[in-house]
Parts: sequence; structure tokens; C-alpha cells
Amino acid sequence: MGNSSSWNPVRRFRTRVALGLVLMFGVAVGASSSWGQSPWRIPLRRNPPAPRRSPRWNPPPPPRHGPPARVDPTRALVNDGRRIFRYDTFGDEAFWGDALRLHEAVSTLSPVAALGLGLKVDVEALPPRLRSRLRYGQVDLGDPAVTLSLLKLDAVVGVKGFFSPSGRELRSIGIRCALCHSTVDDSLAPGVGRRLDGWANRDLNVGAVIAAAPDVSPFANPLGASQDAVRQVLRSWGPGRFDPYLALDGKAFRPDGKSGSVLIPPAFGLAKVDLTTATGWGSISYWNSFVAVLEMHAQGSFADPRINDPARFPIGAANGFFNVTHSPDLVTPKLPALRAYQHSLSAPRPPVRSFDMRQANRGRALFMGKANCASCHTPSSSFTDANRVLHTPQEIGIDDFQSERSPTRRYRTTPLRGLWTHMDGGFYHDGRFKTLEDVVAHYNGRFSLGLTDWEAGDLVEYLKSL
Ligand code: HEC
Ligand code: HEC
Repeated sequence: MGNSSSWNPVRRFRTRVALGLVLMFGVAVGASSSWGQSPWRIPLRRNPPAPRRSPRWNPPPPPRHGPPARVDPTRALVNDGRRIFRYDTFGDEAFWGDALRLHEAVSTLSPVAALGLGLKVDVEALPPRLRSRLRYGQVDLGDPAVTLSLLKLDAVVGVKGFFSPSGRELRSIGIRCALCHSTVDDSLAPGVGRRLDGWANRDLNVGAVIAAAPDVSPFANPLGASQDAVRQVLRSWGPGRFDPYLALDGKAFRPDGKSGSVLIPPAFGLAKVDLTTATGWGSISYWNSFVAVLEMHAQGSFADPRINDPARFPIGAANGFFNVTHSPDLVTPKLPALRAYQHSLSAPRPPVRSFDMRQANRGRALFMGKANCASCHTPSSSFTDANRVLHTPQEIGIDDFQSERSPTRRYRTTPLRGLWTHMDGGFYHDGRFKTLEDVVAHYNGRFSLGLTDWEAGDLVEYLKSL
């Protein structure tokens, strides 16, 4: 694609976003029939909202300036990890910017389109004047220049813009962990608020964002697929989903035709969990390195001989993804701090009145007793038995598509705290169960538990209380 024609895809993208937005996301951001005519306004909150989500899981703010004499080394490591989790791109702008030219697509995105794609704005990065102008609907949210200003303020969660020295031109773009594993509390407006680190961003349409890049050949080439085919796959994911294994095995769709992608999980509440991911790929630092190097395309080193398996991972094996080296390595030295920060994030408590306490108490007894949930969801270790055992698909009564994409060939018992923070997108690794009621009904059948409707309801209230 020559330089001269590079306008067309951009323009097409713009139209598509406008259209998709009105069709799919318009409601969420206050759609009206006046698209494109009047400035977009974030719906105004009449009363300051009650803190919808409790801030207890966030560690205290970093120490103020002052005598650095007695900095607690653990605290310092955690703070360092928070900075990395929120702000580090590990040099991945070489991929997202220089190779995919994703910044060209982002330059044409209005804030309303960006919010529609599930990107979030960190209110604390905004100067007070801009905050109040936003609050009173005085900012033109249909203007892509506003998106660029937000990027310049480093206010778009998980996205880092690199600008020309004059500050006028967006030259490149990088992504951070927070893109998928943080959201905001919507305190100023939907999609604009204080950061909630570790929360799964189930609004984020990662696939649609990547598909907008002018050049997706870095994805297409190893897969031996056309760019169009890759874009089709990316757009099939939908909000809150991503496929970390596509680049290893090339399996975009399940045999039943559904997407091969998985849900973005929370990154909190993992302090007592040895094996991470739905199929238990490895420890938290193993996975952090995997995702940084193989998925974010960071400038870092990663090795796992299990990926050198042409039968299971034809693309990973052929492209040497089992042993990637970069010098300097911008990932490995950061892993201890990153882990310290993740382990400091405990799962947030559900708001008091978000579940029925009496039912939850009865549900708790069922969970430990008649329903036998605790035999796998061990309460004393974050409701998982992943430190001892993984489970075959047959045991839990589901298919083996995703477990066969992992060297473990098993599923991990999901830690259950903070379920209330990700009620969108469904449950189980691929969201196959729309509601917690569906999950309980599945177990009721699979294990012939003989739960009555009342008991199933109590169990659900207990799950909501975790
Ligand atoms: C593009 C979205 C995306 C980005 C960016 C991303 N992740 Fe993830 N992350 C996922 C998905 C999807 C999974 C689920 C994988 C699975 O279960 O098979 C996941 C899983 C995890 C898990 C395992 C959670 C659990 O319950 O065991 C951790 C920990 C994690 N990511 C940390 C990170 C860190 C640290 C970074 C930055 C280096 C990062 N992620 C960047 C999408 C993302
Ligand atoms: C044999 C072990 C086992 C038993 C018994 C068991 N679970 Fe699970 N549970 C799992 C596994 C494994 C997963 C992960 C499945 C997946 O991701 O596909 C899971 C996932 C879940 C999830 C989804 C969490 C999420 O974030 O998507 C919920 C909710 C859940 N279990 C609740 C229960 C309840 C309630 C019971 C008792 C009725 C129970 N489980 C009994 C192993 C078990």
C-alpha cells in the first residue's frame, strides 16, 4: 500500500467507527440522532455518584517527596510495580506504532469513538480545568484532536502516545498491561474516572482496535493469512476478549464456529494462586513475561521449550516463539516488581447491598456442603486448588478446545473473589455461561447435585458476595 493511498483506509475506518458506534456503543455513551452535527457531550451526572466501587484494594499512594532514608523495600518494589503495570510499554511501540502504524488509526478517533471501543480515561491525569469542562459538557467529544490531547496528558489508560518534538503529530503508540487489566470507576462520566487496577476491562474491544491498524501484516505473515482474514478474526472477538494463543497455533475458531478467544480475567486476588491463566500455563511471572514478549511484542526475552511443539503450536514452533531474545531485555528485570504489585492487589469487596446477606449465608453452607464446590474452589487459597491440581475437561463437563491449546491440557479452577467486578461477558474462560445462574445449573447437572431452585439462588447470592 503506497503512501498516497493511505488516506482511504483511514477514512474508511472513520466511517466504520462512526457506524459501529451508533449501532453498538452509541447507547452507552449517550447516542442521539445528531451524530456528526453537534458536539458530543458526556452525559452529566446530576449528583456526585456514591462510590460505586470501593477503593480498598489499591495500595496507599507512593511516598511523598521527603527524606528517602527509610523507604520500606517491599513498599518500594510494589510502587515500582505499579508504575510498570500502569505506564511501561516495554518498548512495544516498535510493534504497535512503527510496524502496525496503529497511531494513524488512533489519530482519527474521536473521544466518543475511543470510549465506544472501551478505552478508558484516567480522570486524575486531567488538569482541573479540563475536568470541569468535561463535567459540564464543554468539550467537543467528536473531535479527534481531543483524543490526541488526552494521549498527550497520558490520560488514556494503558495507551502511550509518542509525539513529534513540536507535540503536534502522533508518531507512534505503545500499550501497557493496564490496557486490558484496568478500568475506571466512571466517577466523572461513563469511561472517565479513577483507575481500578487489576479489574478486567470487559468493555475493551481489543480486536476492533487492532483491526483498525493500517498494516496488520506482522500478524498475518507468521499465520500465512491475508490481512483481510486477520482483520476478520480480530473483529470476531468482541468486547472483553483476546486470544493469546492464536499466534502459536493459528486456531482462530472453535470447531463449532465460535471465536477461539478468551475473556480478559482480573489481575487481582492472585497472591495465593501459583498457576495463572484458565489453563494453568505457569506462575505469575512466567505469564507476565509470556504476555509482554509474545502478545504485547515487548523488547524482552522469553523462553519456554513447551512451545517448541510443532504438533500443538505449529506457528510458535516455526517462528521460534519458544526462545525470543532481546538485548537489552526490557522485560525480565521488571518481573519481580510487577509480581509484587499484582500480589498487593487483593480482590475488591462487593458493595454491601449488592447481594442478599441471608441468602448468601445459606449459599455458603451449600458451597461447603451439599453442592461440594469447595472440593475444588478451596476457600483458604483464594477459592482455587490450582496449587495442587488442574482438571480435565471431562471432570468439569466441558469441551477440550481451550485446554488442548495449552501444554497442561487441563483447566484451572478459577479463583472466585471479585466475581461481581466482571459480570459482563459471561463466565468460564470463554464466557460460555452468561450468568452465575447458568454456571450453577451446569454444575447441578454435571454432578447431579439435586439443588432446588431456591438453593441454586442461594448459591448465586454467595458467589456475588465473594
Ligand atoms: C490485550 C489484552 C491484554 C494485555 C495487554 C495484557 N493481558 Fe494479561 N491477560 C489477558 C487475557 C485474555 C488473559 C487470559 C489468558 C487465559 O486465561 O488463557 C490474561 C491473563 C493474565 C493473567 C492471569 C490471570 C489469572 O487469573 O491467572 C495475568 C496475571 C496477567 N494477564 C497479567 C498481565 C500483565 C502483567 C500484563 C502486562 C505485561 C498483561 N497481562 C497484559 C489479556 C491481556
Ligand atoms: C471438579 C472441580 C470443580 C468443582 C467441584 C466446582 N468447580 Fe467451579 N470451576 C472449576 C474449573 C476448572 C473452572 C474453570 C472453568 C473454565 O474456565 O472453563 C471453574 C469455574 C467456575 C466459575 C467461573 C468463574 C469465572 O470467573 O468465570 C464459577 C462461578 C464456579 N466455578 C463456581 C462453582 C460452584 C458454585 C461450584 C459448586 C456448585 C463449583 N464451581 C464446583 C472447577 C470446579
